[in-house]
Amino acid sequence: MHFPSDQENELFQDLERVLFTREEIARRVAELGRQISEDYRGKPLVLISILKGGIIFLSDLMRSITIPHAFDLVGASSYRGGASSSGKVIITKDAELDLRGKHVLIVEDILDTGHTLNVVCELLRIQGPASLEICCLLNKKRVRERELRQPLRYVGFEIPDEFVVGYGLDYGERYRNLSCIGVLKPEVYGG
Ligand code: IMP
Ligand code: MG
Repeated sequence: MHFPSDQENELFQDLERVLFTREEIARRVAELGRQISEDYRGKPLVLISILKGGIIFLSDLMRSITIPHAFDLVGASSYRGGASSSGKVIITKDAELDLRGKHVLIVEDILDTGHTLNVVCELLRIQGPASLEICCLLNKKRVRERELRQPLRYVGFEIPDEFVVGYGLDYGERYRNLSCIGVLKPEVYGG
């Protein structure tokens, strides 16, 4: 598949700097896919992504995985319109597959405060999976308000505590279609 370069995307000019290029992301996602394929060989694996930010990562990761697996989606909203989290997480969509006895791997775009992942883990754990682990593309280094109750099994990249967009991540629903991940110019926030 061939997509236009980010330089051709008019949203690219809103970036102050690029943290990870499309090529760097692709390399890391391929490594994660290889590792997951080894670790889950012979086990009934279900990937579960969190709408909406996680779906670009999910679609690339599942094609990097070389063992059979299913996927499902859950919806979680943290009343985040701007660049900071409110702390209240609402589940807007549950998984549809029967997860009993399945090895569930949550595929999330970014860990910030940990509120979202804590709530989603709780939602999935009560459905009786054989195991429950997290694969997170970006881990934001910051003091967590509430400790993540479940450690991250797979991490794509550690990033500084800055608001990032691209590769599924948005600001006001824009920038999800950039292939790179970058930091926005401060004037874009109106700040
Ligand atoms: P948490 O609940 O604070 O960990 O936030 C998790 C959710 O907030 C993620 O799934 C993202 O949708 C969103 N989020 C957190 N940090 C960023 C960011 O830097 N850029 C875009 N979205 C973010
Ligand atoms: Mg998200």
